[in-house]
Amino acid sequence: MSKMNKKFSIVIAGGGSTYTPEIILMLLDNLDKLPLRSIKLYDNDEERQNKVAKACEIIVKEKDPSIEYLATTDPEKAYTDVDFCLAHIRVGQLHMRELDEKIPMKYGVVGQETCGPGGIAYGMRSIAGVLENIDYMEKYSPNCWMLNYSNPAAIVAEACRRLRPNSRVINICDMPIGMEQNIAKILGFKDRKEMDVRYFGLNHFGWWTSIKDADGNEYIDKLVEHQLKYGNCPIDSTEKDYTDNSWHETAKKVRDIVAVDPTMAPSSYLQYYLFPDEMVAHTDPNYTRANQVIDGREKRVFGECAKIEAAGTAKDTKLEIGIHALFIVDLATALAFNTHERMLLIVENNGAIENFPSDAMVEIPCIVGKDGYEPLSVGKIPTFQKGLMEEQVAVEKLTVDAWMEGSYHKLWQALTLSKTVPSATIAKKILDDFIEANKGYWPELK
Ligand code: NAD
Ligand code: G6P
Ligand code: MN
Repeated sequence: MSKMNKKFSIVIAGGGSTYTPEIILMLLDNLDKLPLRSIKLYDNDEERQNKVAKACEIIVKEKDPSIEYLATTDPEKAYTDVDFCLAHIRVGQLHMRELDEKIPMKYGVVGQETCGPGGIAYGMRSIAGVLENIDYMEKYSPNCWMLNYSNPAAIVAEACRRLRPNSRVINICDMPIGMEQNIAKILGFKDRKEMDVRYFGLNHFGWWTSIKDADGNEYIDKLVEHQLKYGNCPIDSTEKDYTDNSWHETAKKVRDIVAVDPTMAPSSYLQYYLFPDEMVAHTDPNYTRANQVIDGREKRVFGECAKIEAAGTAKDTKLEIGIHALFIVDLATALAFNTHERMLLIVENNGAIENFPSDAMVEIPCIVGKDGYEPLSVGKIPTFQKGLMEEQVAVEKLTVDAWMEGSYHKLWQALTLSKTVPSATIAKKILDDFIEANKGYWPELK
């Protein structure tokens, strides 16, 4: 079928996510780039999906009544005849995120969704859910691509590498894009796509080593100079430019991270590994990020959806297009129309970082086209970053080992090795609490 006529069918897995309505608005805003014939929501929790499903239907029908719409909990209906699956599931939902964050905090350890023990616990829950969705996709639409941003992306990607090596799954994260939007503002670019970047690392664990304009002029020193003073915040930015205060604090903290190696610009997530003591000191153990999300984004999004449903129209809605999620359209468009866009993806290293294990899942620039992605060569990385990454990759691999083998010791080792955990004793205490809290979600460990 020619490019002009082709229209695509999308399923959003984790339909009840707080991100779904804003992603749908974003898809509908980009129909010229990525024409759609069908949008489906799929979730394994009907009640939760219903909090957004009707509102999404109203939004879709008001924009383009020719687009078919379905919200379902039936995997066959969801996954039949789809070209792209956008996967953002959270196994255990926000209630389990709260425990991922609060249990380590009991022992004075970083409590974070994807970094440190919280990410390990979440990974042990996510793997089965993501694999289940890949299997549905392959059964009902074998040519479909899954654009997966279900967290913890690093551990999920390692599980996919080992357990579904030939599946059409692309793991991606919005954090580099979010940070690049600020970097572009800091450096005076109109759009982040005007920048030619070099970047390497792991998910939520990376560094920009070069930022060039179209003429090849280098801006990395200028960026680092700015970050040393203001972190990753554009000079005129205020708290209201961030989803909330904790994201503003995170952008400011880049100042301290970059000071450790002022030759490159770091991901803000490195704050949890380089300053774990400060992170713990600034977190209320009784009110963590999960609570902020439940009282903030979840209330706001579900509240707006309820209003749309009651009014029968979305014309006055305060829901906004999820701009940060534009990477999803870019990625789908690259696969659909062979655009060869350069994007940061989480892929098997395979020599791209020359002095790093070939079987590590790394986050690096790739060229994306209709057959998938081709990673770009990164070359050698410095000892400091290499050391940090080797430790973290081992944590991620041990977590997947533990899940596959049902091994208590492998998971204890993963926790012990995490830079955020001070000792094997504390690792064991956290592990035993996690096992209790995750009954029914984790494989049984022996
Ligand atoms: P959420 O709990 O609000 O929504 C997730 C939904 O997934 C829930 O409705 C839940 O019922 C559903 N779900 C759970 N297990 C499922 C399964 N096996 N099959 C189908 N559906 C299932 O979570 P959220 O805060 O909206 O986040 C959603 C996901 O997106 C999380 O994994 C989050 O970490 C991730 N995320 C990733 C990025 C990124 O850049 N990688 C950015 C934002 C969010
Ligand atoms: C960024 C990360 C995601 C993470 C999200 C959490 O977007 O890239 O991986 O899920 O932040 O944000 P939240 O607002 O839920 O704490
Ligand atoms: Mn992410």
